[in-house]
Amino acid sequence: MLRVDLYNGEDAFQADRMRVLRRSWQFVGHEAMTPNPGDYLAEEVGGAPVVVVRNARGELAGFHNVCRHRAGALVADGQGHCGEAFVCRYHGWRYSLDGRLRSATDFGAAPGFDPRDFGLFPTRVETWRGLVFVNLDLDAPPLSALVGPLESVPPFPDFPLTDRRSHRLACNWKTYVENYLEGYHLPMVHPEFDADVVVADYLVEIAGQVIFQSAPARDASVYAGTWAWLWPNLAINTYRHGYMIERMTAVGPQETRLDYFYFFDPARGAELAQMFTASDRVTAQDKQVCEEVQRNLGAGVYRGGVLSPKHERGVAWFQARIAEAHGEHPQPAFPAKAGTQVFS
Ligand code: FES
Ligand SMILES: [Fe+2]
Repeated sequence: MLRVDLYNGEDAFQADRMRVLRRSWQFVGHEAMTPNPGDYLAEEVGGAPVVVVRNARGELAGFHNVCRHRAGALVADGQGHCGEAFVCRYHGWRYSLDGRLRSATDFGAAPGFDPRDFGLFPTRVETWRGLVFVNLDLDAPPLSALVGPLESVPPFPDFPLTDRRSHRLACNWKTYVENYLEGYHLPMVHPEFDADVVVADYLVEIAGQVIFQSAPARDASVYAGTWAWLWPNLAINTYRHGYMIERMTAVGPQETRLDYFYFFDPARGAELAQMFTASDRVTAQDKQVCEEVQRNLGAGVYRGGVLSPKHERGVAWFQARIAEAHGEHPQPAFPAKAGTQVFS
């Protein structure tokens, strides 16, 4: 059962960050975005600034993007190159790419100051099929435990990062995730999907912490492929001519940013343009319903409803995991009587 109080307010938002987003594997980019030593990706993960850098051995290492002197940022957010060391942007402390403090610029003699006590705080970094994930929980199970069920997905084609697009939604991140996790809304919200896929045969499968959705594609569809969602806020969508990673970032209690990373056959420019048109339309449709739901969740009337056993098993699974993360024993999500619900 959905807990309305978790969808509004700063306290609930911070609780999600601490109990869910900072304890799970979070996608930050593709390995191809950091080909050379010194190349980095800097992002916020659960509100914490982190940097993933390729070191001299060609491996990826992750750190909090927070200087141990007075919390300056080592690098600007985004993609960049820092050479052989991080040099803090505030007072110039210098850290090697393994996180050790190498010099405290013009610091002066300070008895008892041991640079070994001031290395950067590490994060976990692991990759799967070139996708780079960070976890702030140093004791978290390995990424392989999360992505295991995805091994059944055919290998991704070796296409470059062709494009990135972002959208902002005025809703809690969970409101959007729940929208992503069901196809029940397709006929009402995305009627044009009906031309591409057979909505009536829509399937939801839960495997570990991955939820697969599929529907038989009609002949000319660009959507033929797999839609896989990974706990707690990532989707990997494969299409006929490439794949797209969709990150659902919690920006505020009622603000979500969707980042789409498109890896497509560069020779398929026309199909990609068609994808963008379709994808922008679908996002605009989902944005509208999610923002309306969010408004209603904050209106103090709705106290939780019922979920369709046929269509909303993914939503139920997600709500149960969220409740667990917040220390609750999940309640049954479905009405006692399943089946077609016709009311007279
Ligand atoms: S905060 Fe980084 S050197 Fe001062
Ligand atoms: Fe949708």
